[in-house]
Amino acid sequence: MPRITVNDVEREVSASPDTPLLYVLRNELDVMTPKFGCGLAQCGACSVLLDGEEVRACITPIEAVAGKAVTTVDGLPARWAKQRGLSPQQAAGKLHPVQQAWIEEQVSQCGICQFGMMIKITELLEQNAKPSDADIKAALTTSGPSPHLCRCGSYAAILEGAQRAAKLMAQGAEA
Ligand code: FES
Ligand code: FES
Repeated sequence: MPRITVNDVEREVSASPDTPLLYVLRNELDVMTPKFGCGLAQCGACSVLLDGEEVRACITPIEAVAGKAVTTVDGLPARWAKQRGLSPQQAAGKLHPVQQAWIEEQVSQCGICQFGMMIKITELLEQNAKPSDADIKAALTTSGPSPHLCRCGSYAAILEGAQRAAKLMAQGAEA
């Protein structure tokens, strides 16, 4: 049976190797933050990190993630703690800066797109700690198979959230 590693836990799954990761996460592993939007790599609602790079889980077969690390929004706090060298005790109850920023800026409206947005911004901030607004817009529109879409039109709030996350991340990195 295929084995995949999701949020630092290796799991054995019963799905066939060509099954899209999104279906396995949601239907078999009960990891519900990646959302089904279009199913065609056209919206970004299903995005996860694969070895730190954003991929669209709706078109990524599980055979393509073998031996790699899948991170969903659920795994961001532990990812941030590990990057800062914190123990599980020190990290307990702490959110990733992107999650914290999303709350502080009240970014989400219906929320369907937002987990993919947070994944994309996490990928960006891990590569570019001080992005300009243009960098953020480019990440969300031109760096993947399609733009990340928000039917609620929360793009301005997403921009604010990303900039706040960059500040929180810088503060956290110094702490
Ligand atoms: S559901 Fe995967 S990109 Fe839309
Ligand atoms: S918050 Fe509703 S689709 Fe983006």
